Amino acid sequence: MPQAKRSEFRFFHRLRVRWAEVDMQKIVFNAHYLMYFDTAITDYWRAMAMPYEEGMQLLAGDLYVVKATVEFHASARMDDQLDVALRCERIGRSSIAFRGAIFRGDEHLISGELVYVFANPETQTSLPVPDRLRNMLEGFEAGQDMVSVAVGDWQTLGAGASAIRKAVFVQEQRIPMELELDAADATAVHALATNRLGQVIGTGRLLQAQPGVAKIGRMAVHRTLRGSSVGRRLLLALMDAARERGDQQVMLHAQRSAVGFYDRLGFVAHGAPFEEAGIEHLEMVKAL
Ligand SMILES: CC(C)(COP(=O)(O)OP(=O)(O)OC[C@H]1O[C@@H](n2cnc3c(N)ncnc32)[C@H](O)[C@@H]1OP(=O)(O)O)[C@@H](O)C(=O)NCCC(=O)NCCS
Repeated sequence: MPQAKRSEFRFFHRLRVRWAEVDMQKIVFNAHYLMYFDTAITDYWRAMAMPYEEGMQLLAGDLYVVKATVEFHASARMDDQLDVALRCERIGRSSIAFRGAIFRGDEHLISGELVYVFANPETQTSLPVPDRLRNMLEGFEAGQDMVSVAVGDWQTLGAGASAIRKAVFVQEQRIPMELELDAADATAVHALATNRLGQVIGTGRLLQAQPGVAKIGRMAVHRTLRGSSVGRRLLLALMDAARERGDQQVMLHAQRSAVGFYDRLGFVAHGAPFEEAGIEHLEMVKAL
């Protein structure tokens, strides 16, 4: 496999080489590079906004590696910062081939090829790659947006919103269902994020705290996609809706773990921490 330039790729994983990964020759042990590619493919699905396990269930199959090749052009060493790139290069009847590359700065150290086969998980025999997955991969490699955000009422978006809120607040955070769903949903403006498979990956809602002041809440993003900008897109969509209806300010109750997220989007903490549904919260505000 020829040497490559960084500009030919998109990167999905950055790592710092640790002690445990170098061998007695003080260079990264060859098998680790395959693990680096395998870690990057996980972030590839995240970048495609696809919760992998649920996505594969929806597509009635799974992906199995049928061939993995690694070529070593130069060695990585302890403490090196490495960037792992991947590109989907070929989709056959049932096979999906990825080209991989690992760089230390602009130096191309490692090339790789991973060939996956879409197969029946029961029998592990190949199945045709579903058109939805093929279109998604081709769209992603063409730089298309993988996420759609819809804004609307409970009638339209309620089923999707309550499903992801149940997964996040009730199942994951163990907030009682009766606290989670409330009468305010019926009159709120809702935002719903979906991916190219139609999977619901996030939601949030917009209420009226007082005249001119919007209240955003029930922000929930799929566990596997946190940190991949879905939340930011939902929040910006709800803030646009508030601005359009004439609000001048927006407030929200942020869970302690999410304060940094809102802070980065210009929200400012206001008042002392308090408990809500057994979780520490901070009130945060922002001018629109
Ligand atoms: C991968 C597996 C499901 C393939 O099932 P299969 O029914 O034997 O596959 P097929 O013979 O129909 O081949 C499927 C595709 O893989 C391609 N393929 C098979 N062997 C290949 C190889 N060595 N290199 C590149 N492509 C290969 C075929 O060309 C075909 O591609 P196409 O459908 O796009 O034309 C099966 O071999 C398997 O389960 N292997 C073990 C998987 C595993 O444990 N991987 C590690 C953990 S993920």
